[in-house]
Amino acid sequence: MPNAPDLLDQKSHFAFGKNWSSYAKLVTDSQIAEAIAGLKKLAGDTLAGKRFLDIGCGSGLHSLAALRLGASEVVALDIDPDSVATTRSVLDTHASGQRWTVSEASVFNLDPKSFGTFDVVYSWGVLHHTGDMYRALRGAAAMVAPNGEFIFALYRHTYLCWFWKLEKRWYTRASAAAQARVQAIYVSLMRLASRGTFDSYVSGYAKSRGMDFHHDVHDWLGGWPYESISPAETDSLMQGLGMRQVRAFVRPGRHLGIFGSGCDEYVYGRPAAG
Ligand SMILES: C[S@@+](CC[C@H](N)C(=O)[O-])C[C@H]1O[C@@H](n2cnc3c(N)ncnc32)[C@H](O)[C@@H]1O
Repeated sequence: MPNAPDLLDQKSHFAFGKNWSSYAKLVTDSQIAEAIAGLKKLAGDTLAGKRFLDIGCGSGLHSLAALRLGASEVVALDIDPDSVATTRSVLDTHASGQRWTVSEASVFNLDPKSFGTFDVVYSWGVLHHTGDMYRALRGAAAMVAPNGEFIFALYRHTYLCWFWKLEKRWYTRASAAAQARVQAIYVSLMRLASRGTFDSYVSGYAKSRGMDFHHDVHDWLGGWPYESISPAETDSLMQGLGMRQVRAFVRPGRHLGIFGSGCDEYVYGRPAAG
């Protein structure tokens, strides 16, 4: 089912930015350290001297991680004004004096002729929430410089994606009280299914890129617009754009997607200009 064109308009989206602004109040040094570890896994030990574009910067935590890994310049953008304000505040607090900019902009308005190209284009968990994932992937890939890398994460296509699409569209328009009830049901079902391991899962959750379990539950239940893709389809699309896989962290097999579809992480390189 193709998404309707008005999904490109941020007003139809889940309020990602409000969730990020609430999450950013909790950011600690150990969460920053986990975000750096998550970025190192994908980008390698250093970004020294590299220009880094963060598309859909959300809380700004990974823009901060890129600066801590030595990026010479970070350009962060997000379509949601609350995400932009949060990223600006996180970078003001933790990276003042370093070379960064944050703007309210959409991946659909990027143009290498006006922005230049980047050594690293990073877009984690974003392009499937834009309303047109395939166009967003092409637009983001176009910003990668020769010899540069495109690092991104996308929801895996699962058997239950149709259900989550309906649920997210409903949740995004639901009252705060109705959202809280659905969160409580979802978390209780997770607890039941985890057979006693739920509390340790939640307490170790920050290890997942410095994120917070409860903010991620709200983000998962509400993340609308929603699309998903298989690793094979991603690879064929990227090859068609002239990119080569450098590394990937994908779960093998096909998945039901009962508590979520989960993100696969990819790193693609653009060969040097011939
Ligand atoms: C799930 S969050 C991911 C945030 C961050 N990248 C991370 O890893 O934590 C998705 C973000 O994408 C942003 N977004 C959605 N559509 C966008 C678009 N067309 N252009 C830029 N950002 C967009 C949302 O506002 C939101 O902040």
